[in-house]
Amino acid sequence: MGNKSDLPPLRIARVTLSDRAAAGVYADLSGPEIERVLREHLGPEHTILSRLIPDDRDGLSALLRALCDDEKCDLVVTTGGTGPAARDFTPEATRAVLDRELPGFGEAMRAVSFPKVPTAILSRATAGTRGRSLIINLPGNPRAIGECLPPLVPAIRECLRHLRGA
Ligand code: MTE
Repeated sequence: MGNKSDLPPLRIARVTLSDRAAAGVYADLSGPEIERVLREHLGPEHTILSRLIPDDRDGLSALLRALCDDEKCDLVVTTGGTGPAARDFTPEATRAVLDRELPGFGEAMRAVSFPKVPTAILSRATAGTRGRSLIINLPGNPRAIGECLPPLVPAIRECLRHLRGA
């Protein structure tokens, strides 16, 4: 877990993309799992906003803009909508709002997960910066959060330090 005190209290948003969870067909397990992992690895002092929306490409782009520009989130983590299905738009909706893409996050997730779950390479998850915000896509499977997110934490910390101008 390392030193948790090297960053000030952050504003973080977790965004779940799921038609069925948004319609109440089943509970969103992935969003709370993101929150659990981030609190464990970054500390309890950060503010975490939560959002749950259907797989809506323009809706996600608008939400990401609002979370970065109006809510001033330092970090926005999405879950779901990264696969090859017809209604998986998360990487496209994310790329549409990025200033700079950081493809290493998606590459690392796939590299870490592939030996355990061969279907991990079906995720097209990406990441990047918008202003001073870092946006990261994660796959939708709740188990994938625990596998993919912890290995990204050192790069998340370093990226946030760079974005804050340190
Ligand atoms: N990565 C991990 N670590 N564990 C998983 O179970 N599921 C894969 C992949 N990445 C998975 C994973 C599958 S089956 C798909 S289709 C893609 O993530 C995309 O999922 P999403 O559309 O819910 O984002």
